[in-house]
Amino acid sequence: MCGIVGAIASRDVVPILTEGLKRLEYRGYDSAGIAVLNDGIRRVRRVGRVVEMENAVRAEDLKGIIGIAHTRWATHGGVTESNAHPHVSNDEIAVVHNGIIENHEEQRARLKGLGYVFESQTDTEVVAHLVHHYFKASGDLFLATRKTAADLRGAYAIGVVALADPDTMTGARMGCPLVVGLGDGENFLASDVSALIAETRRVIYLEDGDVVALQRSGVRVVDRAGTEVHRVVHISELSANAVDLGPYQHYMQKEIHEQPRAVSDTLEGVIDSGVDAEGLFGAGSESVFRDIDSVLLLASGTSYYAGLVARFWMEGVARVPCSVELGHEYRYRDSIPNARQLIVTISQSGETLDTMEALKRAKELGQPHTLSICNVRESAIPRASRFVFYTRAGAEIGVASTKAFTTQLAALFTLTLAIAKAKGRLGPTAESDAIAQLRFVPGSIQHALNLEPQIQAWAERFAQREHALFLGRGIHYPVALEGALKLKEISYIHAEAYPAGELKHGPLALVDASMPVVVIAPNDALLEKVKSNMQEVRARGGELYVFADLDSHFTESEGVHVIRTPRHAGLLSPIVHAIPVQLLAYHTALRRGTDVDKPRNLAKAVTVE
Ligand code: M6R
Repeated sequence: MCGIVGAIASRDVVPILTEGLKRLEYRGYDSAGIAVLNDGIRRVRRVGRVVEMENAVRAEDLKGIIGIAHTRWATHGGVTESNAHPHVSNDEIAVVHNGIIENHEEQRARLKGLGYVFESQTDTEVVAHLVHHYFKASGDLFLATRKTAADLRGAYAIGVVALADPDTMTGARMGCPLVVGLGDGENFLASDVSALIAETRRVIYLEDGDVVALQRSGVRVVDRAGTEVHRVVHISELSANAVDLGPYQHYMQKEIHEQPRAVSDTLEGVIDSGVDAEGLFGAGSESVFRDIDSVLLLASGTSYYAGLVARFWMEGVARVPCSVELGHEYRYRDSIPNARQLIVTISQSGETLDTMEALKRAKELGQPHTLSICNVRESAIPRASRFVFYTRAGAEIGVASTKAFTTQLAALFTLTLAIAKAKGRLGPTAESDAIAQLRFVPGSIQHALNLEPQIQAWAERFAQREHALFLGRGIHYPVALEGALKLKEISYIHAEAYPAGELKHGPLALVDASMPVVVIAPNDALLEKVKSNMQEVRARGGELYVFADLDSHFTESEGVHVIRTPRHAGLLSPIVHAIPVQLLAYHTALRRGTDVDKPRNLAKAVTVE
């Protein structure tokens, strides 16, 4: 989604801003822009990639010692240069903005009444004119930004510069992340630490309601009450090389192949030291795990599917009632609060607005026990949670989540064991058996990766199709959902997943010889039922593509293609079976020539509603 970078220095900031935008590219965007103060507001905007903006910047020899830049993912108004940020008011104020201003129509009408003329269809332009309006009256950019923020409703992070005050840059946040980077005699603003990592590791995470003024000599922050506050300075541990592609063609390919290492790193704590809740999830977690009477898992997209798998473990192993809900549904539902419930948010980015808002809602409802499973350190969701477990997948750049999913599953199984142990439901023998099973997982993932050549052959055929069905039952149904999501988001093939038992209640009508049906069918308690469902498909001429393990005893026959993982992974089988569906989606997309890492219309971190 949209990205913000700002810099105030005594050197040319254009390379800093351009490099920062490149580091934010993975988030997904459709246009890019930059504005610096240098004898007027000098602005360059381009539809398309940052590199196109960079070429134009070079051609115009743009330079300046204070400036703001932005990558836009369109919400209000089409993908056009005039809608790209920065937006300018009366050649005097320039603004970049992430998020959505909900009351933009009301503000637009008010500003038109004050004589302002609008040039774009964006909600952002009201911010530029509001700052202009207040700055004209006070000549104080910090005050003007605070007054503007007070007029806005919705979620936003903004960065502002004013021609008349080249020694100040301001920012404000509400609901969208905004960080300040501290340098020596220079300071920075960004929506994501990764944009600043080449310049500084000293960062301040602004809180909701904060407004900041950055000067070369320092920064000032006021909170939502208007009180000057000192926010903690963090030293970011993010690796500056995290985004290197190495020998791979795509980030998604790299990330799929990193999974044995990512899962093994994520499991390191539990494998080395056993199921020690306090060590794994934080001080005080064990007594909370002992006292809770249920678990609610909140997430979106792939992270939600990880939650659907975990429900089987929570109820089957820890014997704790567990529900799973999409964040954007939960936050608006009139649910019944339960102070003894553990709220677990699952998020790769830690920034997903729908999940963050669901967490806030749970807290507002008086649910005190919050735990986050997250891949990005220092991000918003873990910072708002009492307990945290960081998956150790490393930076995930491809929009399609892969290693985040399998590491989330590893983390959720660890959480299940910790809850079971705290409740006295995991004795020493069961604990060491479970850890022994976990030890095998990275190796089993590697075996699944070795199936790639066979999956490539299937992908040749899938690439010719426009529709696909994915089936699974029980704990493997979420893997079918994940397979369908991966395929649709990167290959644009319409794919749907159903619990196999549901087939005869409707989707069977879609099955004919042109509809490939993928079945996730390793050996589990429901395998015989799945086999019957497969017969229903074959009887209608449907072609079956079956992911099984050696214990499922499938043989190939006409219309039935089988790929087997060499080991049965028991309860942890969904982790292993995620690999072949990821590879199928990747190779199918490759054959169709889509932009695998940046699929159309999607963004990596979904920071708007
Ligand atoms: O960062 P999060 O895990 O909170 O993201 C949630 C979803 O937006 C994400 O999983 C999305 O569904 C992926 N593009 C799926 O591959």
